[in-house]
Amino acid sequence: MIDLVIGKDKVAEARFDAPGEKVNILNVASMARLAEVLDAIERGARDGAIVGAIFTSAKPGVFLAGADVKAFVAVAASGDVALAEAKAREGQALFSRIAALPVPTVAAINGACLGGGLELALACTARIAADAPEVSIGLPEVRLGLVPGWGGTQRLPRLIGPSRALDLILTGRALPARKAKSFGVVDRVVPVEGLDRAARRLALDLAAGQRPRRPRWNLLDRTPLTRPLVYRAALRRALAQTRGRYPAPPAAVACVREGLTRPIEEGLALEARRLSELIVGDVSRNLVQIFLMSRAAGSGAKRSAAPAGPPRLGVIGAGTMGGGIAAVAAMAGISVRMKDVDAEALARGMKQVHEAARDAQRRGRLSEAEATRREALVSATTDLSGFARCDLVVEAVVEDLEVKRAVLRDVEAATPPTTVFATNTSSLPVSGLIEVSSRPARVIGLHFFNPVQKMPLVEIVRGPATDPDAIALAVEVARRMGKTPVVVADTPGFVVNRILMPYLGGAVSMLRSGRDPVEVDESLVRFGMPMGPFALLDQIGLDVAAKVAGVLASAFGGNNGAGSVDLLHAMAAAGLKGVKAGKGFYAYTPSGEKKGPSPEVASLIPAPKASGNGNRPAPPADETADALVDLMINEAAALLEQGAVDKPEVIDLAMVMGTGFPPFRGGLLRHADAVGRDVIASRLRARGVQPAPLLEQKGRFYPVASSVATQP
Ligand code: NAI
Repeated sequence: MIDLVIGKDKVAEARFDAPGEKVNILNVASMARLAEVLDAIERGARDGAIVGAIFTSAKPGVFLAGADVKAFVAVAASGDVALAEAKAREGQALFSRIAALPVPTVAAINGACLGGGLELALACTARIAADAPEVSIGLPEVRLGLVPGWGGTQRLPRLIGPSRALDLILTGRALPARKAKSFGVVDRVVPVEGLDRAARRLALDLAAGQRPRRPRWNLLDRTPLTRPLVYRAALRRALAQTRGRYPAPPAAVACVREGLTRPIEEGLALEARRLSELIVGDVSRNLVQIFLMSRAAGSGAKRSAAPAGPPRLGVIGAGTMGGGIAAVAAMAGISVRMKDVDAEALARGMKQVHEAARDAQRRGRLSEAEATRREALVSATTDLSGFARCDLVVEAVVEDLEVKRAVLRDVEAATPPTTVFATNTSSLPVSGLIEVSSRPARVIGLHFFNPVQKMPLVEIVRGPATDPDAIALAVEVARRMGKTPVVVADTPGFVVNRILMPYLGGAVSMLRSGRDPVEVDESLVRFGMPMGPFALLDQIGLDVAAKVAGVLASAFGGNNGAGSVDLLHAMAAAGLKGVKAGKGFYAYTPSGEKKGPSPEVASLIPAPKASGNGNRPAPPADETADALVDLMINEAAALLEQGAVDKPEVIDLAMVMGTGFPPFRGGLLRHADAVGRDVIASRLRARGVQPAPLLEQKGRFYPVASSVATQP
């Protein structure tokens, strides 16, 4: 799995190549092999047979994707801080051996170089990267609630200075090759074909005494007097973003700050200790679970015949959603045929594609030539010419069943029987389309979220007759587009909208009973939601929300916020449609920034029914958040009971990825387990809501062993 070959030039090449795997990772076996490889290099260096060493990868597009996340789970499950610390120390010791080799070392980065992969590269004397779009270089540990534990918090700041290092460590973002060079993380960027040769050359140059030229540290980093300002600012930013809910960012700042003032060996000890404390904590365990669920999402779906190359996509309707879907698909290398009845709308859709290409270029993700090539993957038409070649056609026309049915009939007539038709509806049942289909097995729902570029979730809706191959094709397209797919049954609102509506409806009821929307929003933000329910309604659009709420209220009645529909309609009719109209529950600037509450709302709210005490004080903030979150849990329990999803993981993943439900809580149902079903059921009853039967039963959503949610 790591081949070692010593060239005639006396440069040793250690080549990572995990057998039978698409990616190289650092696990127990590869670390043990690395130790042997280092033994050999040390021997060769001592007796003069080796003058330099390079680390390369045989996997296209991947250098080293990081440490084995499943190993974290095992350590976390043990709850053994000392074991966790010992494991971190082992990895550090190995990388310190690389750093201490008597010959220069070069990492030849041909693709993903993340986490432990970058920490290995940082232990080398120099790094060289391929000028290829697959190259991504970063330390994403903080996203798993951890600090880098194999030297990342020590070697990165020593190399590029604490401000740039903290930028990378605290955001977990990955840099493309050229950006990594401007940060000083890599020393050279070369064409991919010449990468290994250039690494070899660099190793020889270093052996001959050359030193790499690197960008200087930032001004504030350079003097001990101003450096505390860097740490203070980083900490402030991290706390503002995480509201103090995530322990990893402050721990990372501490590792960098304290590590830089002492010898690296002491810094490493500190890093291992901090990592071990985090790894057994609830937040990291929850984040790791979400990561693993997201990685596994849709992995069970296999296409019956796997054709070569990416599937070809058709998009009908070039509006907000259709244009976004085409743009994301094209940037992922999928060719797209896009149709709209309106030539101007088509032009706007193509503009979305153009902007996505320029954005990818600006961010350094694609070279100018590659961005232009990907943009050209989309072709536009006002008829169905060219659709016969599409494997999957997504419709994103107006939310009207008859229009969608007509589109389906036309597409079926213009495509071969294998083509899958997917509807991007928000609320219409897929079964309503299937009724008019000549090939119901090839009809599915593919529900993207707005804005498509940003939202990571796609709901894949299984119709009553959908064949598994159609699902697998949709999963493949979603995955290639970089989205997390969840497969759900055909129920109105699918998973996310169906669970959200009682929550939003509950918030509107609070408003009707005299609660201040700003206060309600604040309590949900404190709970950890990215925004409160009223701000979210403004984002969705009150007219759209009223429509979806109406569909769900008529499907399910009862708890589903029927009462809220009238108020939303009234507000939409008065022009308060949300962000897109410049006003909703809040007023907005033309660029969509929130200005403050909308003064018009009050006049549209019917006076609350007299409760005998006109000025009741608002309940404590936590109670407000609990009341609304309980409504979501109740709906989720009903969905599980009805078999609309096959396991709680699907709901948790969908809510975290689709609504930003606080990841540190592990998801809606992990949170419910942490609170206790009985507690939630009795809180619901106390508020006059009938709990779903599943909540009335003893037990948990997850088996005890895997339930690691934070305490509420
Ligand atoms: P939009 O109004 O921006 O775009 C719809 C486009 O379809 C327009 O350009 C229109 O000219 C075109 N169109 C209408 N009839 C057509 C036909 N027969 N053939 C070809 N093109 C036709 O609408 P948007 O927001 O993109 O929504 C599209 C669909 O996606 C709707 O079903 C909506 O419910 C759903 N959706 C919308 C979300 C959102 O937040 N906007 C989120 C998720 C789903």
